[in-house]
Amino acid sequence: MKSFKPQAWLLPQPVLILGTYDADGTPNAMNAAWGGQWDRNEIMVSLGSHATTDNLNRCGELTIGFATTDTLVAADYVGIVSGRKTPDKIAKAGWNSVKGEHVNAPVFECFPMTLECRVKEKLYESATGYYLIAEIVNIVCDEKYLAADGNPDVEKMKLITFDPVHLGYIELGKRVGDAFSAGKALK
Ligand SMILES: Cc1cc2nc3c(=O)[nH]c(=O)nc-3n(C[C@H](O)[C@H](O)[C@H](O)COP(=O)(O)O)c2cc1C
Repeated sequence: MKSFKPQAWLLPQPVLILGTYDADGTPNAMNAAWGGQWDRNEIMVSLGSHATTDNLNRCGELTIGFATTDTLVAADYVGIVSGRKTPDKIAKAGWNSVKGEHVNAPVFECFPMTLECRVKEKLYESATGYYLIAEIVNIVCDEKYLAADGNPDVEKMKLITFDPVHLGYIELGKRVGDAFSAGKALK
């Protein structure tokens, strides 16, 4: 086994797209890999100081979409360009959006599935950001990505994961087992 110094190499990491409205109502989005499920109906994101942070401080509502192979280029773009300097960033990304049904934040139509969220807590808030805890108030999924049982079909979505080691994006593959069940073979 080879050893490496401690670094942000938790695997796999998501590619979350946080959608908010700027002060004038223009949609904005940013890419976030440092996030995950916090509690049953809550997510967390380690959030720096961004246009998105300004928007959340003002409004407190956001959407979280999951980037895909088809949205990769624009998903990376919204992670390297700030709405603070490029207010028409979403027009440049080429994304259409509609206002969320349950939150005042944009749902980008290019994503298979989106969480509509409301800020619940800002942990360790400082000038450089905070750990965002947000409640999931609704989930929308494009009908194209539903399974036969009516629930979202993750296998159909071509979701991508962030590779923090080689700074890349990797497309998620196929289902390889049944959770809470495959292990029973060893009971
Ligand atoms: C792959 C990737 C992952 C990122 N993860 C995070 C993150 O977890 N938290 C964060 O605050 N910024 C993260 N960023 C940086 C923001 O997306 C970036 O600063 C963005 O331009 C902010 O946009 P805004 O100022 O328009 O809100 C990430 C960027 C990339 C490309």
